[in-house]
Amino acid sequence: MRSSTGVKAATPVVVRKASELQSVVAAWRRTGLVVGLVPTMGALHAGHANLIRAAAAENDRTVVSIFVNPLQFGAGEDFDSYPRPLEADRQLAGVLGASAVYAPTPGEMYPAGAATRVRVSGLSDVLEGVHRPGHFEGVATVVAKLFNACRPDRAYFGQKDAQQAAVVRRLASDLDTGIEIRVCPIVRDADGLALSSRNAYLNTEERQAALSLSRALRSANTAFLAGERDHGELRRLLHDTLRQELFANVDYAELVDPNDFVGPGQLAVLAVRIGRTRLIDNHLLGEPFAAALSG
Ligand code: PAJ
Repeated sequence: MRSSTGVKAATPVVVRKASELQSVVAAWRRTGLVVGLVPTMGALHAGHANLIRAAAAENDRTVVSIFVNPLQFGAGEDFDSYPRPLEADRQLAGVLGASAVYAPTPGEMYPAGAATRVRVSGLSDVLEGVHRPGHFEGVATVVAKLFNACRPDRAYFGQKDAQQAAVVRRLASDLDTGIEIRVCPIVRDADGLALSSRNAYLNTEERQAALSLSRALRSANTAFLAGERDHGELRRLLHDTLRQELFANVDYAELVDPNDFVGPGQLAVLAVRIGRTRLIDNHLLGEPFAAALSG
C-alpha cells in the first residue's frame, strides 16, 4: 500500500541532527501519518532495499538511517574501511520510497561527554557476543538512540543478522518503546551468498569460498527435511561442509533456539572468516532455502 497522502519525494531530505528529525517526524505524526524506520550503516544493497520497500509499503513515511556506528566495531575491525557512498545511498533510498535519510555525524550521535550505554544481557553474551565483545552493546545503544531520534511506529530489521534482530526485539520491549519490530527474510544472490556490504571486500577466489556458508546451511536443511533430527549429526554436517573449504575459518557453526540463541535448537547459525572478511549467515531448519531473491 502506498501513501494515501500524495506522491513520495524522489530525493529524500537528508537530516543531520536528532532534534531536526524529531520535529520532521512529529509534524508527520500530528497529521496522522504512520512512520517506519529502517536503520542501516549504508552501502545499500538488495537486502537493505527489501527492508526499505517493506517499510514504504506499510507506512505513510519511511526514514532510512545511515550511520556507520563506531561503538559496534571492535579494535582491528573494519570501521575505517567500511564503504560510505552517501549520495548513491540517498538516491536509492528515494527510489525505494524513503521520505528522509537520517545521517548524523559521529559527533552528533556521540557528543563529548556521552556516557550512556544500553546493554541487553543474555542474548548479547553468546555467539556473536563472544566473538565480538561489546558489539551488541554498541548496536543496542545506537538503536535505542535511533528509536528516540525518530520515534517511529515500526522499525525494520533483517533476519540476516538474526541475533541482532533478537537483541533489538528485546530492547524495544524492555524499554517500552511501543515500536513494532518487523524482521524481513534474508536476501541472497542467485548462488546462495547472503548479501552483505562486506561482500565487497571479497576477491574472486574468496567469493567462491564464501559460498561454503550457504552450502553448509543447505546441507543441514536438506538432511533436516529428510527427517534427520539428531542435533549432533546436523551440527556435524555444518562443520564437515565448512571444513571442505580451505579458505574458510569457522568462528562458530551451531544449532540454537531462535529465541535465546542457546543450543540446541532449529536455527543454524554460522560465522566464518574468509581471508580477512568475516561473514555470518543463518537458516531456520525446515524452512525452504530461498535461492535467488536479490535484484
Ligand atoms: P547493516 O549491516 O547496514 O544492516 C542494516 C539492516 O539490513 C539490518 O537489519 C540487517 O539485518 C539488514 N540486512 C543486511 N543484509 C541483509 C540481507 N542479505 N537480507 C536481509 N536483510 C539484510 O545491521 C546493521 O547495519 C547495524 O548493526 C544497525 C542495525 C544499523 C545498527 O548500527
